[in-house]
Amino acid sequence: MKLHVIVVTITCLLGLAAFATLSGSDFSFELIGATATEKEARPETIISAEQQRARGAYLARAANCVGCHTAQSGRPYAGGRSLSTPFGTFITTNITPDKATGIGDWNEEDFWKAMHEGKSRDGRPLYPAFPYTEYTKVTREDSNAIFSHLQSLAPVAQHNPPNRVNFPYDFQPLLSLWRAVYFKPGIYQPDLSKSDEWNRGAYLVQGLGHCSACHTERNPLASMRSAAGETTLGGGQIMGSNWYAPSLSSSAEAGSADWPVGDIVQLLVTGVSPRATTSGPMAEVVGQSLQHLTKEDAHAMAVYLKSLRETKARSRASAPAPTEEVQNWLRQGARIYKQHCQDCHGASGQGAPGIYPPLAGNRAVTMTPPINVIRSVLNGGYPPVTAGNPHPYGMPPFAQALHDGEVALVLSYIRNAWGNRASLITAAQVDKSREGIH
Ligand code: HEC
Ligand code: HEC
Ligand code: HEC
Repeated sequence: MKLHVIVVTITCLLGLAAFATLSGSDFSFELIGATATEKEARPETIISAEQQRARGAYLARAANCVGCHTAQSGRPYAGGRSLSTPFGTFITTNITPDKATGIGDWNEEDFWKAMHEGKSRDGRPLYPAFPYTEYTKVTREDSNAIFSHLQSLAPVAQHNPPNRVNFPYDFQPLLSLWRAVYFKPGIYQPDLSKSDEWNRGAYLVQGLGHCSACHTERNPLASMRSAAGETTLGGGQIMGSNWYAPSLSSSAEAGSADWPVGDIVQLLVTGVSPRATTSGPMAEVVGQSLQHLTKEDAHAMAVYLKSLRETKARSRASAPAPTEEVQNWLRQGARIYKQHCQDCHGASGQGAPGIYPPLAGNRAVTMTPPINVIRSVLNGGYPPVTAGNPHPYGMPPFAQALHDGEVALVLSYIRNAWGNRASLITAAQVDKSREGIH
């Protein structure tokens, strides 16, 4: 790594910090070490320790703590899962109550500092691979409940391997600066012009559900906040992965403004709905977290998602001109479709309700960027196993069966058949996706 990279990075951050100061943001927050001043939410009723733990278990699921804090085939909550990003590989920590290696020595206050301020017990600022940028919206009462749940787990002795942060991001003052510019602690403030249900949905989506951690474009310094200090759900590629989390506010991507609330609820809790099927990281979110929401909470989330103001989709690549050459490609694609795909997805892309997703009129098929659709065909996959869809049918991977050119042809075909209109896919795009598969 060359010196100029550090210089550029630092200059860049200093520039941003200066900008934040000028624009009156909370730049001074980190530097003077102030703590949050919000009033803590007061529990409305006194609840027993047991009720608090049960509530904490529920909230921890809504926040999917276990999803990140569990290694593949590891003990739940004992950490060790690697999250790779362009900034390095972050390894989640042991949050079972083991005194030596977990958080057995922590108290409610220490835990609140982590959730609300993104600081470890010893004051070390944490990397935002831990989504405290969203969890900061969680109330003190809910934080305490999650803590009591974690403390009730069986302790697991498992040491935390160190993060492998790339140079120069391992230079701690850079993280402090980043936080000063991009992170503003503060619990969710209800919008009094909206219903209690809407506010509950917003609290879940923005806070515990940390949906924006994936569904928002990050700038090159991994921040989701715009210069105006807002986060959106406008869609973005997930850092360090080959998945695009579509915009939840654009009707061309995954916006649900024109869906019946019931269909949104169905998608969130079962992973499938008449208009969409969850795959990859979203299938994990549904399987590990959203399917466990109460009816009321799932409904509240859906009401909030449906209300998101329409935003423009990212520039849509236009559909191909119907030249003789293009028609010829699409005919070849149709042949591959008939041979490999039609049995499940149907002769007119209609799918089979509840079993195989339709491809006709499916936004996941025509979306820009096309990385998910390429990935679906290369890797195959399963919707999540949920109470509402206990035996999901899967899609076989075609990475071996078809070469890049064939995958490109069949994808170009399904993006332009049965009324679908979208850009053609090239063999080079497919090849690029193969590299990113892990
Ligand atoms: C997207 C992945 C992700 C999710 C979801 C997540 N964490 Fe973490 N968490 C991390 C990472 C990565 C770290 C380590 C950050 C670092 O080392 O700077 C971390 C660190 C922590 C720490 C600090 C531990 C220490 O020793 O300083 C606590 C406490 C914690 N997480 C609790 C939780 C809880 C509670 C939840 C659910 C409400 C949760 N995490 C959800 C990724 C995640
Ligand atoms: C770990 C990253 C991640 C998180 C966290 C996440 N999503 Fe997603 N989401 C994705 C990806 C990737 C897709 C695209 C794959 C797909 O269509 O299922 C997606 C797709 C979706 C879709 C469209 C489904 C479809 O097939 O059309 C909806 C709706 C959605 N997410 C809602 C949410 C909500 C609400 C939350 C928060 C409770 C959330 N997501 C949290 C990654 C994530
Ligand atoms: C054995 C049945 C089967 C076959 C054969 C099959 N698929 Fe699928 N396909 C599925 C299932 C099931 C899903 C849902 C997978 C998931 O949620 O991860 C799916 C998902 C998809 C998706 C993503 C749709 C969405 O809403 O996210 C696309 C695109 C797709 N298939 C295209 C194809 C193409 C192209 C072929 C042929 C090369 C093919 N499929 C062959 C069963 C099949």
